[in-house]
Amino acid sequence: MKVIIANWKSHKSWAEAQTWLEEFAEKSALTSKDLTVVLAPPMPLVAAVAEWMKWKKFEGLQLGVQDLSPFPPGSYTGATSIQNLEGLPVKWAILGHSERRRYFHETHQQVANKVEQAVTAGITPVVCVDKEDITSQFVAIEPQFLSKCLVAYEPAAAIGSGNEEPVAEVTNVIEKMQQTGKPRAFMYGGSVSAGTVAKYLEVTSGVIVATHSLDVDDFINLLQAAD
Ligand code: PGA
Repeated sequence: MKVIIANWKSHKSWAEAQTWLEEFAEKSALTSKDLTVVLAPPMPLVAAVAEWMKWKKFEGLQLGVQDLSPFPPGSYTGATSIQNLEGLPVKWAILGHSERRRYFHETHQQVANKVEQAVTAGITPVVCVDKEDITSQFVAIEPQFLSKCLVAYEPAAAIGSGNEEPVAEVTNVIEKMQQTGKPRAFMYGGSVSAGTVAKYLEVTSGVIVATHSLDVDDFINLLQAAD
């Protein structure tokens, strides 16, 4: 089974999201049973997307979030705890994205704490790691939690740039990471497009797609190329 995660980052209003969803439901007709397609919208839209899916009886997408609180429910203003997501069909959490590490100064330990929160709630963590000093980015995650994680190799220079990482390098890095810990599986992210998705799926369990997930036709092309 291959996973494709659409990471919308901080893009889209609810009106734009709804248009995307309507068109996706109309046009996607996912043919492959082996493809798990996950939408990770911005946090304020997660409940609305869930409601829309329920109302439309639409099961073509699974739901993910782009972050989680490293703390249990409590007095942590602005943070989204696992309790806040209870009752919503959130199955995936992107954690430790390089943009969170860079702009929000997330530490390896905070990412490890987020992983623990996700696992406690039955949410699959997708831990992103950048190129530099790679294994230290998930070494704080205890083995029993790491075994539930997908680790996504996302070199920052490849993100949003059109300069995707060569497949041979992705394979190299995954082999190195395998010597450090035992996550459930490995993914890749960074400028994945319809033209490149198939080659990454050959060497990983899935991809994270941001830029080419924003336009619905672009994303559907990518899914068709992945099939
Ligand atoms: P991109 O981003 O697809 O725009 O390169 C990937 C990511 O940041 O997860």
